[in-house]
Amino acid sequence: AIIRREDYRAPDWLVPEIALDFRLDPAATRVTARLTVRRNGVHTHPLRLDGDEIAPLSVSVDGEELHDAWRMDGPALVIDLAGDDHLIETEVQLSPETNSKLMGLYASGGLLCTQCEAEGFRRITFFPDRPDVLSRYTVRMEADQAAFPVLLSNGDHVDGGELAGGRHYALWRDPFLKPCYLFALVAGDLAANRDSFTTMSGRNIDLGIWVRSADLPRTEHAMDALKASMAWDERTYGREYDLAVFNIVAVDDFNFGAMENKGLNIFNSRYILADPETATDGDYDAIAGVVAHEYFHNWSGNRVTCRDWFQLSLKEGFTVFRDQQFSADQGSAAVKRIEDVRALRAAQFPEDAGPLAHPIRPESYIEITNFYTATIYNKGAEIIRMLKLILGEEAFRAGTDLYFERHDGQAATCEDFVTAMEDASGADLTHFRRWYAQAGTPRVKASLIAEPTGGRARLTLSQTVPPTPGQDTKQPMPIPLRVALLGAQSGKPLGPERLIVLDEAESEVLFDGLSEAPVLSINRGFSAPICLETDRSAADLAFLSAHDPDPFARYEAMQQLMLDTLLAGVRTGTVESESVVKAVRNTLTDPGLDAAFVGEAVLLPSEAFIAEQLDEIDPDAIAEVRESLRRTLGTELADLWQEIYARNRANRYEYTPSAKGSRRLRSVALGYIAVSGDEDWASLALTQYRDADNMTDTIGALGVLTNNAAPEREQALADFYERYRADPLVIDKWFTTQALASHGDTVGTVEALATHPDFTIANPNRLRSLVGAFAVNQRAFHDPSGRGYRFVADMVLAVDKLNPQAAARLIPSLGRWRKFEPKRQALMQAELRRILDAPGLSKDVFEQVSKSLG
Ligand code: ARG
Ligand code: ZN
Repeated sequence: AIIRREDYRAPDWLVPEIALDFRLDPAATRVTARLTVRRNGVHTHPLRLDGDEIAPLSVSVDGEELHDAWRMDGPALVIDLAGDDHLIETEVQLSPETNSKLMGLYASGGLLCTQCEAEGFRRITFFPDRPDVLSRYTVRMEADQAAFPVLLSNGDHVDGGELAGGRHYALWRDPFLKPCYLFALVAGDLAANRDSFTTMSGRNIDLGIWVRSADLPRTEHAMDALKASMAWDERTYGREYDLAVFNIVAVDDFNFGAMENKGLNIFNSRYILADPETATDGDYDAIAGVVAHEYFHNWSGNRVTCRDWFQLSLKEGFTVFRDQQFSADQGSAAVKRIEDVRALRAAQFPEDAGPLAHPIRPESYIEITNFYTATIYNKGAEIIRMLKLILGEEAFRAGTDLYFERHDGQAATCEDFVTAMEDASGADLTHFRRWYAQAGTPRVKASLIAEPTGGRARLTLSQTVPPTPGQDTKQPMPIPLRVALLGAQSGKPLGPERLIVLDEAESEVLFDGLSEAPVLSINRGFSAPICLETDRSAADLAFLSAHDPDPFARYEAMQQLMLDTLLAGVRTGTVESESVVKAVRNTLTDPGLDAAFVGEAVLLPSEAFIAEQLDEIDPDAIAEVRESLRRTLGTELADLWQEIYARNRANRYEYTPSAKGSRRLRSVALGYIAVSGDEDWASLALTQYRDADNMTDTIGALGVLTNNAAPEREQALADFYERYRADPLVIDKWFTTQALASHGDTVGTVEALATHPDFTIANPNRLRSLVGAFAVNQRAFHDPSGRGYRFVADMVLAVDKLNPQAAARLIPSLGRWRKFEPKRQALMQAELRRILDAPGLSKDVFEQVSKSLG
């Protein structure tokens, strides 16, 4: 069935109170739910309680067991009720240990835990499972004390104690109203890293990060990030934490990153556990980002929640924006922006250009889980970022203050957010709302023409928004462009930066009083999520890459220069590398730049990003041209790479921005040395691998050996496996490194790894580490034989039987078939059809495959 945004109706029945009673057992858990229900408005509709794979053992109304006044309508429990207020009691039995979907109550590594967003609560008990039904929760849990010594739920622990037969219980009460998707419980043998935080109004909050006791030493970084997040949200948004307790639990089997359950966040352990030996700098950054993200949801998501799931970006786009701001403030803002834009281009631009394109506020869905996308999250964050840029810092903050104040305790809409921004700022955001409604990445053309007499220049701008499924024609969007002109001789800005909002199909802007010939710097800081086309020459781009004071614009100029070179190479078969080599040399030798920035700036655009620019993709041609430019950079700048490699060697591991930057640049240099013709590159990599005192250097070296198919590759991989076989998060890296290999028989390797004793499709991290990684290895996945496609399709079919949402996530890489040359198109389509023809397909996979086939 298709769910449509326009069909929204307020709930027929509200549930002001719910009391849950869990008698926990991995094989057979009993759940009793007592719901206080109240008719909402005047109507005669029955009470309809959602369920999913549960059956009522008993149903009673106002204390009397009913035998015939209720019925099942498919998975839902329907009860006819006369008056307006009732007490409903139901009982169900669950089997957490066989719950392979990891939605609802499930077992992971001896723990029992829950995941309810978006529609998992209906797998625990019968309830109106929609985010606009807000209730006060009381939760009683009882379990075997030896197996489950720790019992956690939302809110405050109000009672607990021992029971007969080696059992014990805990009672938790959450004073805040919440939708059921924010409910959580955890039971297990856990130890806590405990700390505290004093809020701006002087309240003391008990913090706990709960893990297996052996993992306690790996929780410090997450705890630091939590405290920093709490302080940051007070400083930046005036948001204070509201309960007396804030708990985080790490679990090994989790469908995505983490979940913001009220007062009890549950995390994929990969976003909590870190120490230098087992986690990379990237892991450390991701942990801080996700801890902050989930914490920030306490206001943007929990205190103000979503009216319905079409509003998902209301909480996710805004919260991603907030976590991006937080991370930018913790380290290098420029490098963070580069990383965020790279992620947007890698995940969201292809989505916007493909069969699954949707606006950040979609109009319909079959399975909501399929809409936890880069568009809702990352493009959603870009929309908020543009609002802030257009309104200005102060008005934006006034807008968020008004939004939080006006909608506290409510289930709100994206429209409410925009209205609060308008009311607080006085701005008219009528056109801006198109960003919520229209899918597709706008294409902007910009051309600067300087008048021959000098002193004046004219910037012409135009935009088109490409058609996307269900949206053939589009209206122009307001596109905020940060623009500066730089003097071609001096390299200095010719006047202050301007914010130009292009909100027509075409427009012109005049600049005068220019003291020298201008070079155009535009979309600085990636001020709008667009594809930009300019007529700037290679010389202009090289100039900007050396002189633009905006670090992002500088990075971007280099990327554009590289991209133009690579695209010309794909077209003509020859790579004119001279200007790229010069620009890279310039960047490498500029003493004013920090290592982290340089490490980003000298990387070539990914194969996938190059492919995005083409109407018909030939992955081999792209890989060859990219590799040829890479080799040229390696050989032409060989001495420089060696020097940089040597210069960035650290004596001892430190987790500081500058040490991180050095590690980054050094591993980039090692990658170039490997293609520089230096015969000793493999021994250099092997030495780094052996001497490393941190995972960034270890995996950096292993990656270079694996990618370049060094003879030492097998030896190093075997050593790594032996060293870390007991640590699943590190073994994930072992699988990923091989799945991403750019040389050798990667398809064969991956097929073989799928039969490795450590491989399992039941654990989402492991599945992603092999199959998810392989599906984004453009060259290997698109092996002309079609074996890569077949492998992924086989995985989809196998995983779908266990965990449909994990299976559905593997579809988009096959779904991009239209962009490829005809032979691959046919092979990819054939695999999608094979999936579609399989009996018993989940609606998750059905939606993605049928939309992909079109
Ligand atoms: N709200 C969680 C987070 O961002 C993610 C929940 C994902 N749920 C899902 N069904 N995919 O932060
Ligand atoms: Zn989120």
